[in-house]
Amino acid sequence: TFVVELAASGIEVEVGPDTTILEAVRDRLPDVMSSCEDGYCGTCETPVLEGIPEHRDTVLTPSEQDANDTMMICVGRSRTRRLVLDL
Ligand code: FES
Repeated sequence: TFVVELAASGIEVEVGPDTTILEAVRDRLPDVMSSCEDGYCGTCETPVLEGIPEHRDTVLTPSEQDANDTMMICVGRSRTRRLVLDL
């Protein structure tokens, strides 16, 4: 379980082991964009402001993943207890 702060919305959501970040965000922001929801289309790409994402997508190149400044929230998780996203 980790906490995702949606900086632009001033909202925090908890993401448990059986929930994706996308699902947790959608509960509070119903208009959040997604399509494949399986890590390959890039629609849900979201800037990361703080924290270290755990990338599980096939959109970003290894060097883009290493930069840790953007992520696919349909499959990605967090390596830190807290992740701050630009949403
Ligand atoms: Fe397709 Fe997340 S919705 S990569």
